[in-house]
Amino acid sequence: MIRAIMNGANGHMGQVISQLCAEDQEIEIVAGIDPFDEGKNAYPVFATPQECNVEADVVIDFSSAKAVDDLLDYSVAKQIPVVLCTTGLSEEQLAKVEESSKKVAILRSANMSLGINTLLDLLKKATNVFAEAGFDVEIVEAHHNQKLDAPSGTAVALAESVNEAAGGRYTYCYDRSQRREKRNPNEIGMSSIRGGNIVGEHEVIFAGLDEVITFKHQAFSKSVFGKGAVEAGKFLAGKPAGLYDMRDVIAAK
Ligand SMILES: NC(=O)c1ccc[n+]([C@@H]2O[C@H](COP(=O)([O-])OP(=O)(O)OC[C@H]3O[C@@H](n4cnc5c(N)ncnc54)[C@H](O)[C@@H]3O)[C@@H](O)[C@H]2O)c1
Repeated sequence: MIRAIMNGANGHMGQVISQLCAEDQEIEIVAGIDPFDEGKNAYPVFATPQECNVEADVVIDFSSAKAVDDLLDYSVAKQIPVVLCTTGLSEEQLAKVEESSKKVAILRSANMSLGINTLLDLLKKATNVFAEAGFDVEIVEAHHNQKLDAPSGTAVALAESVNEAAGGRYTYCYDRSQRREKRNPNEIGMSSIRGGNIVGEHEVIFAGLDEVITFKHQAFSKSVFGKGAVEAGKFLAGKPAGLYDMRDVIAAK
């Protein structure tokens, strides 16, 4: 049985993962970390990683960008691999993730769903054809009204996948309201919609002359991310130091 620590245990995703693990024979949550706790979980919850003295094989993290520095220090010090799902990390934090992954196994993915991770690959193939043919690329994402970061980490990952396939020639445009000029053919426009309880929608639009191709992914429940994160936790336990992503989990299936 793989022993997991849930960072952000009392959040939406923390509770989804707790439910999934309670029904899974291969992985169990042995402790949680969350500054806000009402004692309702089947496992002990600590306010900070430093207070958590429970032995574990992996940490699954869905918390807050503010929590990530402490968590990285903890997982390096305790040598516990971490599945890092929190989005909205700063450039400095991404550098710290990279540095920490030299000392402990870290799996980071802005979107843990099978659909999005397959889409990341499909986009590379599409970009090879459409970018060459001069199609404009736009990304539109929609999320619930509680989300803090914009654009979503997934939208950025989709843009990076396109950009990588196009040899890094794109810049990203988040806001056109301050410009009065035509769009630059070498930019990827990103637009964010926030409202209601939309779980997560992403559209990548390749717009050419007289034809438009749209790739669309819709998540209807948070369990699509939860299932991916639990699989990632099982995959990462016992792995050597390094930076992994969901493609490694899918490839290992
Ligand atoms: N990678 C993915 O597939 C994916 C999917 C969904 C959400 N997310 C991201 O995961 C994060 C959490 O999402 P959510 O919907 O569960 O949010 P949420 O606000 O419901 O839960 C966050 C939890 O983290 C806790 N927290 C705050 N500070 C903390 C700290 N210092 N240490 C530990 N816990 C702390 C909060 O008390 C809260 O219980 C967000 O960044 C979100 O964008 C990623």
